[in-house]
Amino acid sequence: MKYAFSFLAVIALILIAGLGSQIPGMQYLFGVVLPYLAIMLFVGGFVYRVMDWAKSPVPFSIPTTCGQGSSLDFIKQDKLECPTTTTEVAGRMFLEIFFFRSLFRNTKSEIHDGPKVTYESSKWLWLFALIFHYSFLVIVLRHMRFFLEPVPFVLSILEGVDSMLQIGQPAMYLTDVFILVGLLFLYGRRLITRHVKYISLNNDYFPLVLIFSIAVTGILMRYFLRTDIDIINIKNLAIGLVTFSPVIGAKIGAIFYIHLFLVCTLLAYFPFSKLMHMGGVFMSPTRNMANNSRSKRHINPWNDPEIKPHSYAGYEDEFREFMVDAGIPVEKELAAAEDKA
Ligand code: HEM
Repeated sequence: MKYAFSFLAVIALILIAGLGSQIPGMQYLFGVVLPYLAIMLFVGGFVYRVMDWAKSPVPFSIPTTCGQGSSLDFIKQDKLECPTTTTEVAGRMFLEIFFFRSLFRNTKSEIHDGPKVTYESSKWLWLFALIFHYSFLVIVLRHMRFFLEPVPFVLSILEGVDSMLQIGQPAMYLTDVFILVGLLFLYGRRLITRHVKYISLNNDYFPLVLIFSIAVTGILMRYFLRTDIDIINIKNLAIGLVTFSPVIGAKIGAIFYIHLFLVCTLLAYFPFSKLMHMGGVFMSPTRNMANNSRSKRHINPWNDPEIKPHSYAGYEDEFREFMVDAGIPVEKELAAAEDKA
């Protein structure tokens, strides 16, 4: 059922946009009203989620470490696995965000006869996640040509590199193939790997199917249904949207409205979904804190000032007599403590 749901939901979205946009007068809804609503939900929701995280208490120093921490001079510290300064944290963060470093450490466990459990390195998830995310980024950057006039030079270079194999006419973009391959792997993994399948939910399948459909409708528009769309009208609409003076041209094509409606759904859904890991990775205390709890005292900023700290030494001073009476071992004997007093 959970696989069917994502497909049915996306098919319903495609039908709504495909049929709805063909009703006279509805183009304004699909081309202008819904994109504005979606972008407002995206920005508002994104800011809300990040602010909410920023406000949550971080009472303890909890960076994830997996290497030698800073210690005596002759013991070599692993600065990336166990950062102690802000610069080292920034270095680790950079590698995490641009190269998915912690995913690179991914392992897979298997049970063999015996029974015996084995763990081995598994880099496929890292590789295909990287392929998918970078293709998505390049596609979104290339799309900026619809919103900008004149098209910046860097975008033309990016397009040139992306279509360097010059296969077909219009030249095929490598990222169009890569994004589909990446998505198929990420989806297939959830279907084939038993334990990943077991924990997968609708909210894991839906974004994959949705993004896949966005890519497929885009590819259909560019390579197969070129005559169904009017790219000049689309560009006018896109520029109109960002300059707050949108105009709907005479012929735009149902496939474009489907593409745009799926993108709007993605934008509106984004802040309330797991896709928020895009913002969350920056807010994660396990990643953004330095492991310096031995050299720097961390005080919980939410501590109640009325509640004073009570050390063990202070506790023993208060209850030593009773502890001795009850036969509980004490660090300082009664006489010694009284002498000192
Ligand atoms: C999440 C955002 C989006 C994704 C992932 C996406 C994906 C794609 C993909 C994979 C293609 C195939 C060709 C290519 O790679 O350029 C495409 C084409 C296209 N997309 Fe998008 N798209 C997005 C947003 C938009 C938006 C907001 C518009 C509105 C202007 C748009 C309009 C188009 C058009 C007109 C084409 C055909 C391009 C051509 O003929 O060269 N897309 N899209």
